[in-house]
Amino acid sequence: MEPNFTSLRKEFPVLERKTYLNSGSYCALANDVKASIEAYMEDRLAVGANWDVWITKNEAVRALTAQLLGASPDEIAVTASVSAGLNALASALDFTGKRNKVVISDFEFPTNAQIWHAQEPRGAKVVHVARDATGYIPAEKFADAIDENTQLVAITHVCFRNGAKLEIPEIVRIARAKGAMVLLDCYQAVGSMDINVKKLDVDFAVGGMLKYLLGTAGIGFMYVRDSFTRSLVPTNSGWFAQADIGAMDITGNHPHPSARRFEAGTPAVVNCYASEAGLKFLLAVGTQNIEKRNQALTRRCMERLVEIGWPSVTPTPDARRGATVCVPSRDSGALSKALMSRDIVTSHRDANLRASFHFYNNEADIESFIAAMKDLRGDFSPR
Ligand SMILES: Cc1ncc(COP(=O)(O)O)c(C=O)c1O
Repeated sequence: MEPNFTSLRKEFPVLERKTYLNSGSYCALANDVKASIEAYMEDRLAVGANWDVWITKNEAVRALTAQLLGASPDEIAVTASVSAGLNALASALDFTGKRNKVVISDFEFPTNAQIWHAQEPRGAKVVHVARDATGYIPAEKFADAIDENTQLVAITHVCFRNGAKLEIPEIVRIARAKGAMVLLDCYQAVGSMDINVKKLDVDFAVGGMLKYLLGTAGIGFMYVRDSFTRSLVPTNSGWFAQADIGAMDITGNHPHPSARRFEAGTPAVVNCYASEAGLKFLLAVGTQNIEKRNQALTRRCMERLVEIGWPSVTPTPDARRGATVCVPSRDSGALSKALMSRDIVTSHRDANLRASFHFYNNEADIESFIAAMKDLRGDFSPR
């Protein structure tokens, strides 16, 4: 049964004040998430250092993230950011042999490009797959770049610049045929659509809690396929990555047998509180329901943009699009500010304005956005 989106909307007070089209940057705050942060504050006042409970919050985030991705909790590292996860993973890889190639795409967020380029002094060779004449990167383009020397294909699920979704199953098949591992940066996708890492057959998946997962900044995750949680040994480590945290052993490094070995130091406790509440909320709405709704909202928004003569650059097929609609502008930053002065919250990247949708948005949000864009077209559409 479809959730009652009208009543769910009431759980996000900012929606009474703003047309909030910015979940691809930072989600709207849910009452439950606010209450969970307040509960942490109360705990600080009432108990002080409630570590026994706080550790269970970190584990709750791990278990809920596993549920969300169709993985087991032992395959999830709870990290401080995508960067933290990727650095731990990179530190476990060897680039001195024949398989030294890392294939990325021109759609990557800086995190998933700079960290691989940072491995070049260690022997890594980073290859970028470019977009085609239409601005998209079809799977075939990866076939030219992935070969027997490729160790890792590290690709974004949805591009933060234009909202395009890559053809992940096809790219994974190409990588598998050449014996390469696949890492999916699903930050711009996770929570906005249904994702099952087993069905996608990826080896690693990274993301964080502040966008579509309804949580907060300063906490993320890395899925590590079970078979790699013992064979890969990160040199980027910490006491929370050890097999027995309580041992306090300073004579050696004993990595945990699970994905916990990719973690580092003390968890960000308050972020665990917020993320647990966000993940519970999201899972109750259901990722399949959310995907369907986001596809409908973005489709409608793109149709309306065409009607006002200011089409988006985001791909039109549902299968090639995430939850963000990107509109080209002669000054995307000033356009975003002009929209903000009308209480419409968006963001911008390069020459594109980004309007990102979540299940709590509705048709009225689209119409407010379209009315403002129609008004601002003369000053901000591409010349
Ligand atoms: C696709 C993608 N990857 C990664 C990040 C952020 O990575 P980190 O958690 O290291 O800041 C973002 C943030 O906007 C993103 O959109």
